[in-house]
Amino acid sequence: MKIVLHIWRQKNNKAQGMMVRYELGNVSEHMSFLEMLDVLNEDLTGKGEDPVAFEHDCREGICGCCGFMINGVAHGPQRGTTVCQLHMRHFKDGDELWLEPWRAKAFPVLKDLMVDRSAFDRIIAAGGYVSVNTGSAPDGNAVPIEKQKADLAMDAAQCIGCGACVAACPNASAMLFTAAKVSHLALLPQGQPERYRRVRNMVAQMQAEVLGACTNIGECEAACPKSIKLENIARLNRDFIKASWIFRKDTAVAGAG
Ligand code: SF4
Ligand code: FES
Repeated sequence: MKIVLHIWRQKNNKAQGMMVRYELGNVSEHMSFLEMLDVLNEDLTGKGEDPVAFEHDCREGICGCCGFMINGVAHGPQRGTTVCQLHMRHFKDGDELWLEPWRAKAFPVLKDLMVDRSAFDRIIAAGGYVSVNTGSAPDGNAVPIEKQKADLAMDAAQCIGCGACVAACPNASAMLFTAAKVSHLALLPQGQPERYRRVRNMVAQMQAEVLGACTNIGECEAACPKSIKLENIARLNRDFIKASWIFRKDTAVAGAG
């Protein structure tokens, strides 16, 4: 089939970008979306032109590297699917597609469809880990965990850090991402010792980045390729309120001393 692409081309963060039109004939419905872009890039390279920059790694929907807007929708039209897992059979002959990078101040464009998502790395570095020395891998069943909590923790842990939630949010808020990272540890026994310090520090880092505030619009959940639920945001908010109370009490005690 024939596909017409309008792709955001931008040499670097400082350069002015623009949409450039490309036509691809002979697109197979069995190709993944990224394979279709590989074909375009082979054509461009063959003609001595600059290939389109886009990020990818696993191409299996697990690493979180890929992602851009297709006709204004993060990761494209197939719900619960990363762009690397999207296949051309979901499009039809003659379709025109507009591809743009994530649009958010916190994710500056590096080149074409690639953005800098290091804001997410800094949020994780602020507390998205368990800092105890756990030694070698423990036996799988050494710490019993209720099935319901284990399931919820696993659901939250599915966040791949792709950034679609920020790109889809009119406020460019990272609440769904941060809430998923906070939740998956807050639900497990191993996450308890640092639970409230973690939420306080991760929220503080989120606020230090140029990310917006959450106003419960829900675009993030709709765009998330891993179907991370809004209820994780509610959990983060509850833990954050408790953390504010705990740390205010500590400050008051320290002040009295
Ligand atoms: S919450 Fe969903 S959309 Fe946001 S970074 Fe995680 S996987 Fe991507
Ligand atoms: S390339 Fe790894 S999730 Fe898409």
